[in-house]
Amino acid sequence: MASFLCYLMSTRLLFLIPLLHAIATNCFAARQPVLCHDDESSALLRIKQSFHWNLNSCFDPSDYPPKISSWKVEGVDTDCCSWDGVECNEETGHVIGLDLNSSCLYGSMLSNSSLFSLVHLRRLNLAYNHFNSSQIPSGFSRLSGLTYLNLSASSFSGQIPLNISELSKLTSLDLSYNFMLHLRSLQGLVQNLTRLKDLSLKYVQISSPVPEILGNLSCLRTLYLTGCGLHGEFPPGIFKLPNLQDLRVVDNPDLMGYLPEFHSSSPLKILSLAGTSFSGKLPDSIGNLNSLNALWTGKCNFSGHIPSSLGNLTQLIYLNLSRNSFVGQIPSSLSNLISLNYLDFDSCQLSGSILPSFGNLTQLKFLSLYQSFIRSSNPSSLSWLGKLTKLTFLNLYGINLTMEIPSSFANLTQLSDLNMGSTQLMGRIPSWLANLTQLTNLQLPFNKLQGSIPISIFDLKKLEHLNLYSNHLSGTVTLEMFINLKFLTTLLLSMNKISFLTKTSTNATQNKFEVLGLASCNLRHFPNFLRKQDRLQWLDLSHNNIQGQIPKWVWNTSKETLLIVNFSHNFLTGFDQHMDNFPWSQLQILDLRSNMLQALPQIPPPSTVVYLVADNMLQGEVSPLICKLSSLHSLDLSNNKFRGTLPHCLSSIKEVQDSWFHIEFDWKIILLGYVSGLIIGVVVGNVVTEKMQCWFVRT
Ligand SMILES: *[C@@H]1O[C@H](CO)[C@@H](O)[C@H](O)[C@H]1NC(C)=O
Ligand SMILES: *[C@@H]1O[C@H](CO)[C@@H](O)[C@H](O)[C@H]1NC(C)=O
Ligand SMILES: *[C@@H]1O[C@H](CO)[C@@H](O)[C@H](O)[C@H]1NC(C)=O
Ligand SMILES: *[C@@H]1O[C@H](CO)[C@@H](O)[C@H](O)[C@H]1NC(C)=O
Ligand SMILES: *[C@@H]1O[C@H](CO)[C@@H](O)[C@H](O)[C@H]1NC(C)=O
Ligand SMILES: *[C@@H]1O[C@H](CO)[C@@H](O)[C@H](O)[C@H]1NC(C)=O
Ligand SMILES: *[C@@H]1O[C@H](CO)[C@@H](O)[C@H](O)[C@H]1NC(C)=O
Ligand SMILES: *[C@@H]1O[C@H](CO)[C@@H](O)[C@H](O)[C@H]1NC(C)=O
Ligand SMILES: *[C@@H]1O[C@H](CO)[C@@H](O)[C@H](O)[C@H]1NC(C)=O
Ligand SMILES: *[C@@H]1O[C@H](CO)[C@@H](O)[C@H](O)[C@H]1NC(C)=O
Ligand SMILES: *[C@@H]1O[C@H](CO)[C@@H](O)[C@H](O)[C@H]1NC(C)=O
Ligand SMILES: *[C@@H]1O[C@H](CO)[C@@H](O)[C@H](O)[C@H]1NC(C)=O
Repeated sequence: MASFLCYLMSTRLLFLIPLLHAIATNCFAARQPVLCHDDESSALLRIKQSFHWNLNSCFDPSDYPPKISSWKVEGVDTDCCSWDGVECNEETGHVIGLDLNSSCLYGSMLSNSSLFSLVHLRRLNLAYNHFNSSQIPSGFSRLSGLTYLNLSASSFSGQIPLNISELSKLTSLDLSYNFMLHLRSLQGLVQNLTRLKDLSLKYVQISSPVPEILGNLSCLRTLYLTGCGLHGEFPPGIFKLPNLQDLRVVDNPDLMGYLPEFHSSSPLKILSLAGTSFSGKLPDSIGNLNSLNALWTGKCNFSGHIPSSLGNLTQLIYLNLSRNSFVGQIPSSLSNLISLNYLDFDSCQLSGSILPSFGNLTQLKFLSLYQSFIRSSNPSSLSWLGKLTKLTFLNLYGINLTMEIPSSFANLTQLSDLNMGSTQLMGRIPSWLANLTQLTNLQLPFNKLQGSIPISIFDLKKLEHLNLYSNHLSGTVTLEMFINLKFLTTLLLSMNKISFLTKTSTNATQNKFEVLGLASCNLRHFPNFLRKQDRLQWLDLSHNNIQGQIPKWVWNTSKETLLIVNFSHNFLTGFDQHMDNFPWSQLQILDLRSNMLQALPQIPPPSTVVYLVADNMLQGEVSPLICKLSSLHSLDLSNNKFRGTLPHCLSSIKEVQDSWFHIEFDWKIILLGYVSGLIIGVVVGNVVTEKMQCWFVRT
């Protein structure tokens, strides 16, 4: 009776009506919760006790203190239904919702956890906690009323217990971002979950094919299977699910499939297949997906023409067709997609031209035409690009422009990334480039730009990467000019006719370079400012007039970070012999060719992939320590005065003459990974003594 009254009267009323005070005290004295059931209240407190939480266990420090820290039985908030994150049924008082997402919880979740006694739960969110690589306890299957279960990003591991599938009332299941979680059978998990609307298994490792049965889950609205290691054939029936709005199966390189015919009744808004082995054509009927906002089909095996019906999808905001095997032209109808923010034709190798009507796509922020045209074709004037004033990213690498940098680009004042590498650019670098004040990455390598670098470039205060590699630029550049470019980490001036000057007294500069290319820059000595550089990954001082010994301090620069060192084509005669260890411990490429060296420094570290010392005056035997270079792909010892026998590991080499030999390798490209956002590759012909070519691609 007392508890019934308690239930009828809100606490507020009890304070207002002193007459009922006695009854009220009775209620509180009995320690009966107003709404919450005792057993559930104590179960919640046991859950609270079973985990640790502190600032360090939070995903985001602003989550601290977590909701759970305020749960207590003393004081005012004794009713667990008023606790933060707890939701009760208003009529029965049972706990039906528990939302502890991002609650800094740390510790193992055991199968006897009190959580599983909260059998009235309908919604449970434990996402963004750290359950210390626990298995998901099969006890979850006792919570048979659950409609919403979210265990995203909470460090569960091991096999997902298949009796989760007994939770047949589930409409939403999210197990994503538990990178060590495995699923033996996707069919076993979902076959009884016929009410599912939202299913996310992103980055769960699924070792079964995608079952046809998913195509029967007619309520399904979102399906996320990104990065699941899927293989086999994707059932086309899934595309036809009548309520499916958002389908993402990104980054499953072994997953095959093709696109079916689409009908205008399809509610699809997001279709993400990037990084799979989907193949065949994009069907013309893709133009029926009139709700589509995003189409991500990059890095698949699609072929055929890009259907012009895509131009009917006027709701599109993201369109990525990159890295497929399409043929033909970019359909002119795409210029109707006036809502587009993002358009990517990266590596599509199309023909023809882009029409000026693309200047209608004024909402574009990202445009990549990177190698999107067959090399020899010239996609006409690109002056229409000047109308895309919201662009922040523009990549035209590898397109044959055969023109000066279009003056209409002066309009693109929001650009932060501009890549016009290898586009047959001519003429001078325009001084108005300084109007693009947001530029952080300016890539103009492998062109025919001439004249001096306009002084205004040095006002681009946000610049991080400046790449002018291999042009016809001339004039004098001094280190002091870079004083305003405090964020500059990549500077490539190599292979021009530029003279780079530093005062010998300049020992230091504010700049911390990571990639520094000063090949063919008229250097007469190792620039002193290198002494203080400790983040260099790539250092190219080749093709200069540096004479004499390599000073001892040079070997001390950026000891931990250098990956690529090129001192070739100078007049170096030797180095300090007293080196205990080879200094650059991560080195991958060392090029000392075409100098006057009579001896070599110690053998570089085992990480070395390319070791080139041809065209020197090296004598004696080839050190057998060379056999320790287990990663070596390319070795060039030719044109020296070596004598004696070859180390055993080189004995299979074909051409050996008295004091002259070189080694042939049949490799063409090695990718050396990422150096401050650049992919660095090296192409070498069949014979390693052929000219080496390097290129730089912003990813
Ligand atoms: C996660 O918790 C926050 C803060 O309590 C809440 O606002 C949010 O709705 C929760 N997210 C989900 C998906 O339940
Ligand atoms: C987390 O797991 C490790 C390894 O299993 C164990 O040693 C440690 O005690 C666990 N920590 C907690 C708080 O459960
Ligand atoms: C759960 O089991 C562990 C051992 O597996 C035990 O130490 C712990 O006391 C048990 N907890 C409860 C609430 O029964
Ligand atoms: C799961 O919870 C996380 C964190 O609150 C949230 O971001 C995510 O959207 C939730 N998933 C579902 C399906 O609601
Ligand atoms: C779940 O399945 C496992 C074995 O598959 C079984 O041992 C366990 O009792 C089941 N748990 C529940 C709660 O049904
Ligand atoms: C699926 O549901 C059927 C009937 O409701 C039941 O017999 C079967 O055991 C369930 N299977 C799983 C894996 O839970
Ligand atoms: C675009 O839609 C219109 C009508 O909605 C249709 O007549 C036309 O054929 C479609 N265009 C393409 C290229 O599919
Ligand atoms: C697109 O641009 C062309 C000319 O470049 C113009 O004739 C046409 O009206 C524009 N379309 C829209 C929708 O603005
Ligand atoms: C670039 O295009 C021009 C004119 O269209 C052509 O003459 C030239 O050969 C092309 N260059 C390359 C490298 O394909
Ligand atoms: C520059 O942008 C304006 C709109 O902001 C546009 O009217 C003008 O035509 C553009 N200039 C060039 C050269 O594209
Ligand atoms: C560059 O900016 C200056 C001043 O902001 C302006 O006068 C000039 O016209 C701009 N140059 C170009 C080519 O737009
Ligand atoms: C530069 O370093 C050299 C050698 O350590 C030293 O002799 C010289 O004084 C330094 N110059 C300046 C300006 O610090």
